[in-house]
Amino acid sequence: MADESPKTALVFGASGTLGRALCHALSQRSSIDLLIGTGRYRDRIPSECEPVVLDAADPAGVQAACAEIRQLTDRLDLVIYCIGVLHDSDHGIHPEKRLEQVDAETMSRQFAVNATAPLLLARELSALLPRRDRCIWAHLSARVGSIGDNHLGGWYSYRASKAAQNMITRTLAIELGRRHRGLACVALHPGTVASPLSAPFRSSEATGVMTPEASVSHLLAVMDGLDAGSSGHFFAWDGSEIPW
Ligand SMILES: NC(=O)c1ccc[n+]([C@@H]2O[C@H](COP(=O)([O-])OP(=O)(O)OC[C@H]3O[C@@H](n4cnc5c(N)ncnc54)[C@H](OP(=O)(O)O)[C@@H]3O)[C@@H](O)[C@H]2O)c1
Repeated sequence: MADESPKTALVFGASGTLGRALCHALSQRSSIDLLIGTGRYRDRIPSECEPVVLDAADPAGVQAACAEIRQLTDRLDLVIYCIGVLHDSDHGIHPEKRLEQVDAETMSRQFAVNATAPLLLARELSALLPRRDRCIWAHLSARVGSIGDNHLGGWYSYRASKAAQNMITRTLAIELGRRHRGLACVALHPGTVASPLSAPFRSSEATGVMTPEASVSHLLAVMDGLDAGSSGHFFAWDGSEIPW
């Protein structure tokens, strides 16, 4: 497996809680020659990474960032999309509890960041994946994006944008799998992790909340076990499969 370890890794959202923890863990791996990390603000990208500024809500910015990434490398072995938005008071985004709270602009921003951007990034960068060697393109999704697992309702925009991301993952797995025979293109649920994204929705007595480091250690173990046969599937942090 050693020669199949990822050599060039790219973390989108390296300034976020899970993105930062992933960059830190990946930087400890001697197999990684190049670690690229994106963030909206250069000074918040972890120092272990080659920094690239990216605002996922700006399609022109996505293209410019991808041009910069292509200048840094002609090969990507491991790509992880850790960008996501659930709430954002700067943009008036609050997850809906009821139908009356649904708002078109909130929906469109969540779709732009959670679903459209990863697809645009795949359009721009998937050619850098190796043709035959093992490689991974992973999206940090969320269990609440599973249609089959939705028993509670609420959070229309976030759920729907993650469900759209999930469909994009599955569709990409099919198309890219024809050109990149060793590709595992997957959706990953990190668990409930202590972060600004989850903070407003966790009660102080909540159990089962993981530290970012614990979640990342599980996610890396899951990714280490992926191969082309895993492509097009949705896995939780503990390796169990989640229904679409
Ligand atoms: N935490 C959980 O319990 C949990 C559970 C299920 C799924 N997830 C998923 O895991 C992923 C990471 O979440 P997290 O817990 O690490 O949250 P976080 O700490 O809030 O990180 C979110 C990341 O998204 C980035 N981001 C948001 N809008 C952006 C935009 N327009 N352009 C570029 N970057 C943007 C943030 O960038 P800035 O640093 O610039 O703000 C940050 O890097 C998300 O996709 C989330 O849906 C998390």
